[in-house]
Amino acid sequence: MFLNTSLGGSCDSGSSATRRAALLLGVAMLSTAFCLPRAAWGMELEVAELRTESQRDPVGLGVPQPRLSWQIRSDGRSIRQRAYEIRVARRERALLVNHQLLWTSGKVRSEQSTQLPYRGPPLESRQRYYWQVRVWDASGRASDWSSAAYWETGLLTGKDWTADWIEPRHAENSERSASASMLRKEFRLEGSVARARVYITSHGLYELYLNGQRVGDRLLTPGWTSYGKRLQYQTYDVTALLMPGANAVGAILGDGWYRGTIGIKGHRNHYGADTALLAQIEITYEDGRSITVPSEASWKTAAGPILSSDIYSGEVYDARLERRGWSSAGFDDQSWFPVTRVPTSKANLIAQVGPPVRRIDEVVPRRIFKTPAGSIVADMGQNMTGWVRLRVAGPAGTTVTLHHAEVLDGDGNFYTDNLRSAEQEIKYTLNGKGEEVYEPHFTYQGFRYVAVDGYPGEVTPSSLTGIVVHADVARTGDFETSSELINQLQNNIVWSQKGNFLDVPTDCPQRDERLGWTGDAQVFSPTAVFNMDLEAFYTKWLGDLAADQDSAGAVSNVVPDVLTAALSGLGTSGLRSGGAAGWGDAATIVPWNLYLAYADTRILQSQYQSMKRWVQFEQRHTDDEGIWSGDFEFGDWLDFFSNSKDPPFGSTSSALIATAYYSHSVDILQRTARVLGKRADAQRYARLLEHTHQAFNRQFVSGDGRVGEGTQTAYVLALDFDLLPQALRPLAAAKLAADVRARGHLTTGFLGTPHLLQVLSRFGYLDETYLLINRTEYPSWLYPVTHGATTIWERWDGIKPDGSFQDKSMNSFNHYAYGAVGEWMYQVIGGIEIDAEAPGYKHVLIHPHVGGGLTHAMESHAGPYGTVRSAWHLDGGRLSLHVGVPPNSTATVRMPNARLTDVTEGGVPLSRAVGISRSRQAGRNVVTDLGSGQYEFSYRFLDTST
Ligand code: BGC
Repeated sequence: MFLNTSLGGSCDSGSSATRRAALLLGVAMLSTAFCLPRAAWGMELEVAELRTESQRDPVGLGVPQPRLSWQIRSDGRSIRQRAYEIRVARRERALLVNHQLLWTSGKVRSEQSTQLPYRGPPLESRQRYYWQVRVWDASGRASDWSSAAYWETGLLTGKDWTADWIEPRHAENSERSASASMLRKEFRLEGSVARARVYITSHGLYELYLNGQRVGDRLLTPGWTSYGKRLQYQTYDVTALLMPGANAVGAILGDGWYRGTIGIKGHRNHYGADTALLAQIEITYEDGRSITVPSEASWKTAAGPILSSDIYSGEVYDARLERRGWSSAGFDDQSWFPVTRVPTSKANLIAQVGPPVRRIDEVVPRRIFKTPAGSIVADMGQNMTGWVRLRVAGPAGTTVTLHHAEVLDGDGNFYTDNLRSAEQEIKYTLNGKGEEVYEPHFTYQGFRYVAVDGYPGEVTPSSLTGIVVHADVARTGDFETSSELINQLQNNIVWSQKGNFLDVPTDCPQRDERLGWTGDAQVFSPTAVFNMDLEAFYTKWLGDLAADQDSAGAVSNVVPDVLTAALSGLGTSGLRSGGAAGWGDAATIVPWNLYLAYADTRILQSQYQSMKRWVQFEQRHTDDEGIWSGDFEFGDWLDFFSNSKDPPFGSTSSALIATAYYSHSVDILQRTARVLGKRADAQRYARLLEHTHQAFNRQFVSGDGRVGEGTQTAYVLALDFDLLPQALRPLAAAKLAADVRARGHLTTGFLGTPHLLQVLSRFGYLDETYLLINRTEYPSWLYPVTHGATTIWERWDGIKPDGSFQDKSMNSFNHYAYGAVGEWMYQVIGGIEIDAEAPGYKHVLIHPHVGGGLTHAMESHAGPYGTVRSAWHLDGGRLSLHVGVPPNSTATVRMPNARLTDVTEGGVPLSRAVGISRSRQAGRNVVTDLGSGQYEFSYRFLDTST
């Protein structure tokens, strides 16, 4: 199959008869005898998937030098880009006729096809820039110009904002959730509209309407950032929603993260006590004239049907209070109140950085039943994040109440104790005008089960639809094996990712927390970037992380930081709101993971000061011996032993963990300095790294390789962070493996777990890794799976073997931290690994590890160059391995338990296979270097026991 496609057309001079003959003769011979050099093979050379700042045709971009990326499509092998040419114009037509270009890169000899900064004249606000690119391959063949892509700038300077901040101050009590305000304004247009944009943001959450229609499909806008320092505005193309004559704009403002309850029970008004709107509609007529409709003092406001809304509590909605036509022209707003213009600064405004939150999926209830306690409950079949769309008909004034829960208790009753104070309650009062369809506006819930109360008539599956809501990002990872249980684990990881990647990487989506806990975020980030394209998502969050770092460099424990102020307000001492080891290290670890996954050097640049400040903070907290101890730490949170303790800080010493993480951050910082070409810093931090290693070893490591208290976490941190001298590493690894074998299970918590299997497989203890991953008894990853979990649990025993629940004060069933094992599953079972020396999948390491009784595994990742694939199948003692490498990238494939002379590719010996530059025997592995293309390897899988 491959041979046909790769040969067809690749030899321009060859007739089809020649090609058929060549097929019989063998590919390798043909490649040298008749064809272009190997690198030129492939029927097509095409450029596709153009991205600006990792997005397809973004509108409202605020980046002064957007980075451009593309992919090369070619079905040949060993396709590499030798050169590229980019051109940018203000009009698409200019590209077609190659005239009046704004900027052209000229032909640049370079393999780089991702993250290329625009280097033309400075960008102007509210302009669209079209671009296209063509490439040359290694044989000098040029592709056609790609089709055009574009980006459109937002408002790039403060001067661009002419609108006023307006507040809807009508009788409100800011101590509890108030009704969501509606704001409106009518305006006339004197002609046909050629182009119209809205630039908008709010204090609180907004929904925008024009002429009776909802603008855009983004949810929970303007998203959650550290509002005082960074407030995103959104840009919408509203050309199609306007018309000549009378028009109207309307907005609804809910409390959201801005002034709703967040962080600490009962703590409201975190960013301010008043909701507010800033909106600017900019309209250009077809004849070239333009006008702006800004938010200003003449807008009017009134309370509406949303009587209260809150992220945790839910929403109360009375449909009888709906004001029909309120966002259309001609509505009578005489009884509405004037708004208040406020002189709020606009200095914190930034264009949207993160991906929008959208409705991504719908779930139909699997069953509707009555619990023993008599509640009517719908089971969505999946623990999910979002809300329920309610469909109902009945008499006006009837109130339907929905409650949301993750689990049923042992008796089959609705269980909400683990939600703590989060009510997750929706109350909808009918207006009685036929079928009514309602979705909440300014809240979200984490749930699998919905209890329905007060529903007029019978609740059927069509009464309730689960709406899955999260950041609208591309799904990039796929992973499947012959084990149904491991597949369900992967499914659970992905669902916990969906559920906690709403707009900020959160710990959980259901109880009164839902915060950007930095520790959880950093441990899960490698898994997360495999499964989804999160470059923009994390870039936004890291901006807040840096913004919320305190003057000493401490990273807040949650980002955006809503705990510091709340704790001091409560007069709480002892619990620090920042600076915890393994949590604050998100400052270095997450940017580095973005660099590895996307070759994103700009994130390293933009976070560099933040990374440095965090390391300096850590350094200042070490003693003369270089040990970081004595501070508040979360430690190996929720480890196996912590069940007997409260609070659950784990059993590995805090000082060991803190010093290990400190050293790891120094290591990342010195690597970052090298990548950025900061030589003096690189040397300085390399020296510091030496010191941290010495300190760690002096304090925690014995001559026989024992680390600290000998906990699994102590070993894995020391080994995965490369803290030990070479000679001690195998000894320490052997002790770790012995502990795993003796216990038969893991003992790690949030910080140790992500590294456990990685370290075991790195040191050759593959059987131990498979023992742990396949284990179904508590504690293990599959224990929750065998207990019906559809997401990752916060605790190893959220539901205990006896059926009772873990402590209700800390028992989320949708917490991704332990899902960090995904990284190992993808790297080791499937075998796709990033090469830190050629990040962003420019060069990929493919090394599947066959074991654990698995007979096949298949995995793919849609990376910056295209899709990388690894799929193996063990059948009758033979292993077949399919490898896919996208154009302009290369791979080194390591085939386990193989003999060089026995391995074939596409039916021919390796030495004759096209696209493979080098193959060698390395112990029991056969290692080959190859260029892009699809490869089918096959060999007799040697029995390791011999
Ligand atoms: C959160 C965690 C977080 C932890 C701090 C918890 O309440 O849910 O996931 O990391 O506090 O240790």
